[in-house]
Amino acid sequence: MRNKTIKKIIFFASGSGSNVQNIIEHFSAFDQITTDLVLTNNQKAGVLDRAKSLNVPFYLFKKEEYLDDSLLNKLQTIKPDLIVLAGFLLKIPKSIVAAYPDKIINIHPALLPKHGGKGMYGDRVHQSVLDSGDSQTGITIHYVNENYDEGSIIFQSAVEVSKADTAESIANKVHQLEYKHYPEVLHQLLKDQ
Ligand code: GRF
Repeated sequence: MRNKTIKKIIFFASGSGSNVQNIIEHFSAFDQITTDLVLTNNQKAGVLDRAKSLNVPFYLFKKEEYLDDSLLNKLQTIKPDLIVLAGFLLKIPKSIVAAYPDKIINIHPALLPKHGGKGMYGDRVHQSVLDSGDSQTGITIHYVNENYDEGSIIFQSAVEVSKADTAESIANKVHQLEYKHYPEVLHQLLKDQ
C-alpha cells in the first residue's frame, strides 16, 4: 500500500509564516512527504494567507480547543509524523507533548540555552543578543517538551554578530539560516523515523 509510506507534516505558527512557506515549498518536490495542515491561534497571522495561496489546509483554533483536548483529537485524526513549530508563541499543552514524543520540533532564533525561555521571541531575542555583547548568534532546532525552549537540541548553526548589527539585521541573518537548515533537518528526521 503506497499510502503507508507517506509521511505527514503539520504546522503551528502565530506570525508571518515565512518558515512555514519555505518548508512547504521544500517538501512540494517530494511525493512521499505531505504538508497537511497549518494551525494558528492568531486570525491576523500572515501564515493564513500563505497557507491559502499554497493550497494547504489551515485551521484557526480557539484557546479553549487547545486546552480541552479537542485540538488533540483533531491531530489524532490526521496522524502527523512531524509537528513543526515556526514562530508559534503558545506553550504546547502537556497532552499534545505526551501524545507525540520526539515528533514536535521547534526552531528558536538564537543559540540556546542562551536567549530563550518564556517571553523570548521575535526582536526581544535579537535585542537580548545585542545587549549581551555576544559575538555570535544563530538558530537552534530542538524537540519540544513541557517547558519553553528546553527540549533536547537537534541542530545549531551560528552567524557572526558585528558592531553595526541591529535587531533587524540580526533577524535577517537568522532567517537566512532558518530557510537553509530547517527544511533539511526536518527531512532528515523523517528519513530517520
Ligand atoms: C523565526 O525567526 C523563528 O525562529 C521564530 O519566529 C520566527 C518566525 O518567523 N521562532 P516566520 O513567521 O517564519 O517568518
